[in-house]
Amino acid sequence: MAIIHIASECFSIAKVGGLADVVGALPKYQNQNNQEAMVIMPFYNVPFTQNNQFTTVFDGEVPLYGKNYTFEILSLLDDIGFPIYFVAIPELLFTEYVYSQDDTLRFLAFQIAVLKWMITWENQPDIIHVHDHHTGLIPFMMTQSYQFESLKMIPTVFTIHNAQYQGWFSHDKVGLLPKFDFSKVGLLDWNGVINPMAAAIKCAWAVTTVSPSYMKELQIIANGLENLLAHEKNKCVGILNGIDVEVWNPETDAFLKKNYKKTNLVTGKKANKNWLCEQYNLDKDKPLIVFIGRFVHDKGCDLFGMLFSEFLLELNISVLILGSGDVAIQNELEGLNTVFSGKYKYVSGYNEALSHIMYAGADFLLMPSRVEPCGLNQMYALRYGTIPIVNKVGGLKDTVVDFKEHNGFGIVMNECTILEMKKAIVNASDIYANPILFKTTKNQIMKIDHSWLASAKEYQQLYKKLKM
Ligand code: ADP
Ligand code: GLC
Repeated sequence: MAIIHIASECFSIAKVGGLADVVGALPKYQNQNNQEAMVIMPFYNVPFTQNNQFTTVFDGEVPLYGKNYTFEILSLLDDIGFPIYFVAIPELLFTEYVYSQDDTLRFLAFQIAVLKWMITWENQPDIIHVHDHHTGLIPFMMTQSYQFESLKMIPTVFTIHNAQYQGWFSHDKVGLLPKFDFSKVGLLDWNGVINPMAAAIKCAWAVTTVSPSYMKELQIIANGLENLLAHEKNKCVGILNGIDVEVWNPETDAFLKKNYKKTNLVTGKKANKNWLCEQYNLDKDKPLIVFIGRFVHDKGCDLFGMLFSEFLLELNISVLILGSGDVAIQNELEGLNTVFSGKYKYVSGYNEALSHIMYAGADFLLMPSRVEPCGLNQMYALRYGTIPIVNKVGGLKDTVVDFKEHNGFGIVMNECTILEMKKAIVNASDIYANPILFKTTKNQIMKIDHSWLASAKEYQQLYKKLKM
């Protein structure tokens, strides 16, 4: 079966968060499962596009606001585990960033260019799989725009990675879309604005999200889309993300200061922890608790400032935080660097290499998210023998079992509050102080299999059902 994934991010080309990890891994595992999966994404001005070679396979024009944007479809010459194509629109997409203020125009042009190319294909794909709102207008255009009529019968799958962001824009811009029967404009609308995520939920043949629990949660609370998701529930399914066990492998990970496997996990993790503690002036004899992530409200990191200001002195831990986003949170956490020097360090920015060393060197990974559709960090932590501390939501609930449960191996908070976090950290310190429990747990979690194979099979079954 031939599948094309259409997305705004793909690791290792351009990554903002977990969407990139998924789009960069799922097709690889689908191909290992005898499918023919490929990816198409925007051609950004990033190191990957600067350092690789491409060939042009198609060119055309996208008219928007009376202006014609010329585009090219480029194909990568090297093999990265799946064929990958790029939409090059120099004026709109060749940027050093992935997202910006003018995303409506940028991603609409991207989506139209993809479809313009696709209608010329002799062998059209069996499945068109689109990811998040940046590609959410594709199922609408495939079924409603006159010029893309020939794609109408190709089943579409829309995966919601995060329903907080829906790509809203006003009806004044409806003229940007290629011509369609205007009596169908309601398919684009939700609460009086054009909502690409809602349009995808209405028009795609199937809707998935990245964990079963998040799918249940979305029918109750989905940033305004809950009624729509409840109404469409028969075509909705939650499929848990996997992780790329080749990229995320402590035995071979080139970023680590020392590689390790189950048999030498104690010395391996210690070497990485020592490096982190030396680098950031932290006490290596205390449990090292880390956070890695985007600074947005959903991740619960806005509570760290108050948590550490009030309690760090009484908690017997070392803390290392990596991330950026909300400037107020950044400033607050930066301010604590001098106050708690020797116990706490906040490193600002995006740093792929450091994140890998942190998964390896940490004793515990803190992930108190208020909303977490799947979450990959906790699965990376498990694979690196780092015990996750999570809130009981979405994919975190589906992947972490609390110590109090049978065969439990993690710390699960009941809600994202300062007091729950403090309680969880005290629990973590108790586990750390019990060397036998601490070591057997690390051994146990490194054995958990979160590779993509099982989830890739679930997608395959879904695609097959749609083709029947
Ligand atoms: P989300 O997609 O909501 O950000 P996920 O848990 O699915 O959350 O994925 C986050 C991904 O981004 C992981 O690969 C994580 O390691 C990475 N990441 C997040 N912030 C940073 C950062 N500051 N530096 C390096 N990697 C980061
Ligand atoms: C989103 C979600 C995250 C999920 C990722 C990959 O960014 O916030 O929970 O793991 O997509 O699906």
